[in-house]
Order: sequence, then C-alpha cells, then structure tokens
Amino acid sequence: MKLLLLNGPNLRLLGTREPDIYGSFTLADAETLAKTTAEKFGATLEAFQSDIEGELVSAIGQARGVYDGIIINPAAYTHTSVALRDAIAAAGLPTVELHISNTHKREAFRHVSYTAPVCVAQLQGFGLTGYALAVEGLVAYLNQH
Ligand code: DQA
Repeated sequence: MKLLLLNGPNLRLLGTREPDIYGSFTLADAETLAKTTAEKFGATLEAFQSDIEGELVSAIGQARGVYDGIIINPAAYTHTSVALRDAIAAAGLPTVELHISNTHKREAFRHVSYTAPVCVAQLQGFGLTGYALAVEGLVAYLNQH
C-alpha cells in the first residue's frame, strides 16, 4: 500500500509559524511521523510540500496509478481552491483532509472547506498527532474498501 502526504502553503514554516496555533513541531517531524506510522501498518508513504496551488494540483493528478490513497493538508487552499477539489475528485483516490488546528474554533472564513466534500474523511485539531491518526485511518479505510 502506497500513500502520498501533501502539505500546502506555509506549512514548511511549521516550528516557527504561529506556534500558539500550530505547535512547535516542524514539517520534517510531521512527515517522519506519517512515514513511521505508515511503515508500522505495512504501508509506505512519500511526502511533498508546496506553496504553489498548481504544483499540488499536478501532484494529485499524477498520483493516480502510483498511490493507493492521499492525505492532504491543503492549508489556506482548503478555503479557496476549486482546482484542488476538482483534482481530488478527478484522481478518484481515497483522500483524507487533515488540519493541525481545529478550523471551526477559528475565523469564519476557515469554517468552509472546498475539499472536504470530495474526501473520505476530515481530521482536525490534534496537532502533530493528526499526521499519525490520518495515516492509521486511511490504511484502515483502504483495507476495508
Ligand atoms: C491549517 C488550517 C488552515 O486554515 C490554515 O490556512 C493553514 C493550516 C491547519 O493545518 O490547521 O495554513 O490547514
């Protein structure tokens, strides 16, 4: 089982970015946790981060036939991107939307997700742990479907 982890804009700044909201862990910490969790469940995981919407769209488009499922933290594009939503729908791969913070406790513009309706699940508010939980949940989903 091959999984793809995608992280969107500004997430490469984890560790120093608004630590009161996102914690002090780094993107490398999150990617390593996701990889070791995947391995624990007999899967492999590759990770990619981009600040550029089109690069994320391309990564999703190229995932078909290569990966069995996707975990994506679309970051700010969650709340704006029809293109990412269409890419997830077009790829047809089971996808989990992940957020570090609980977006529902934050500004109203973060309460809307363009991408969640085309994902199998949405997980948010668990900080770094979410990267492990999302992998565990996606592996279980893929084993059942
Ligand atoms: C985020 C939440 C988004 O609203 C925000 O734009 C981010 C990070 C999160 O992981 O909590 O960049 O996706």
